Amino acid sequence: MDFSNPFGTMVPRKMNAGELARAIMQDIAAELDAVALYQAHIDATDDEQAKKVLAHARDDEKEHVGEFLALLEILDPKQAEYIKKGKVEIAELLEGK
Ligand SMILES: [Fe+2]
Repeated sequence: MDFSNPFGTMVPRKMNAGELARAIMQDIAAELDAVALYQAHIDATDDEQAKKVLAHARDDEKEHVGEFLALLEILDPKQAEYIKKGKVEIAELLEGK
């Protein structure tokens, strides 16, 4: 994010349905990035108070991943099918089928 641009968060129009689904995908990626970032900071300090706050924030972000994924499945039923198919394939792979 470019914090030097005061217009950086302004949008010229509303998103259509396809654009919204893609935006939610970006939001999921950002949440996962935050989880990894907070975990890296937890691993890189011995300050117990900081670890506690970072772990709390990390776990909130993990929950946000689930919330956005659930929203994506509602907004993009085709993507929901791919997610379902992937879960089935992994379950079968791990069961040795
Ligand atoms: Fe979040």
